[in-house]
Amino acid sequence: MKQTLKPKSWAEPYKIKMVEPVFMTTKADRQRYIAEAGYNTFLLRSRDVYIDLLTDSGTSAMSDRQWAALMLGDEAYAGSENFYHLEDAVRRYYGYKYIVPTHQGRGAENILSQILISPGQYIPGNMYFTTTRLHQELAGGQFVDIIVDEAHDPDNLFPFKGNCDLEKLQTLIAKVGAENIPYVSIATTVNMAGGQPISLENLRAVRELTNKHGIKIVHDMTRVAENAFMIQQLEEGQGTKSVARIVREICDLTDAATMSSKKDALVNIGGFMAMNDEQVYDQARNLVVVYEGLHTYGGMAGRDMEALSVGIAESVEDTHIRARVGQVHYLGNKLLEAGIPLIRPLGTHGIFLNATKFLPHLSQDEFPAQTLAAELYIDSGVRAMERGIVSAGRDKKTGKRNYPKLESVRLTLPRRVYTQAHMDIVAESVINVYERRAGIKGLEMIYEPEFLPFFQARFAPRA
Ligand code: F0G
Repeated sequence: MKQTLKPKSWAEPYKIKMVEPVFMTTKADRQRYIAEAGYNTFLLRSRDVYIDLLTDSGTSAMSDRQWAALMLGDEAYAGSENFYHLEDAVRRYYGYKYIVPTHQGRGAENILSQILISPGQYIPGNMYFTTTRLHQELAGGQFVDIIVDEAHDPDNLFPFKGNCDLEKLQTLIAKVGAENIPYVSIATTVNMAGGQPISLENLRAVRELTNKHGIKIVHDMTRVAENAFMIQQLEEGQGTKSVARIVREICDLTDAATMSSKKDALVNIGGFMAMNDEQVYDQARNLVVVYEGLHTYGGMAGRDMEALSVGIAESVEDTHIRARVGQVHYLGNKLLEAGIPLIRPLGTHGIFLNATKFLPHLSQDEFPAQTLAAELYIDSGVRAMERGIVSAGRDKKTGKRNYPKLESVRLTLPRRVYTQAHMDIVAESVINVYERRAGIKGLEMIYEPEFLPFFQARFAPRA
């Protein structure tokens, strides 16, 4: 069943000025490369990849205006002009009062978690994200999933699977007390759920409830423009608003934010934290010098901050975001028409293959998603990523593996990089692997690093 956007057709609001060649390898080569990489697509060399859908993080194409902005880098250690431009852009498009740059999103997560979380506290959120939860845990907190149940069901068509279940939040507050909940962690959109949006209505309700109890909302705004677009598309009464306006409304409902600028904001590196509370800002400005750099660069080059200011403005343009999500849905619809099991509804930054249904003969302990990502690479040189049991890691207290309900392979689309013809090749390869799925054997893990295992774990084929 196809999923259509309004208006139905879309085209890229740009033409291409510079190209980068990509190379095809042979199947025999790819079998060797993936074995050498321990069947982990993160350990492949990018030169051996044909179409790279590992992530949309730092992989977008910058515009001519962003490249021009690089030439305006004011590489001063302190008080770079580019920092003030970035501060202006964050205030103007996102509305937060204060901003502290960091080298990328997790740099901001580290610092804000240290400031806001005391050991033993609980952080409810609309599903975990790998680095976000780890920094909450390293600061002594415990993450509690309060996303709606629909989000854990890959076939449920609820349009706002990023929503919080207010009853789950209320139950937690009643159980542990508001004083033990420093903030609610809200992601726009929810990556691990398949790139699913939260509705404005739900966020307003979360705001009301947290206000009553004096609890903050910290916004992981990594893909906020994509979430705003889905609100414009799907939420009653929001269809006439611009994406820029909805982005502002989302941010205005929250107290502070962490941002990985490598996604929505169209740059190859960078991040920041932003907040309205002056005291939190003071602490963040002080801690950033310990981990990242002075508070007017936080690990970023001046030129990168300048390109980011331009990228923020471009990221909230309706024509841009419609083409971005339009391309994701083009690929998704092709796969749906071929009967490939996907997480539905289609998300905004990638297509998530449902590995549980794709390889039903494998148990979760045989790493179906990891296996499928490796098979796809062997088939065509398309690189995807595991989002299942490996990504979910282990329980902090018991050390036991977490068993997530979603076992998926993410085909993540870099922004403004690939064409529709590339998407056709990707779809053909997925369909090809699907047709020979019965003969695919699982993997065993032979090396597991302590933190964020999906990045560096190694696997071997099961005998
Ligand atoms: N929050 C979300 C929702 C993310 O998707 C990411 C990164 C981060 C925080 C951390 O930001 O990478 O700049 O430190 N996601 C990448 C991905 C890695 O592929 O989804 P970072």
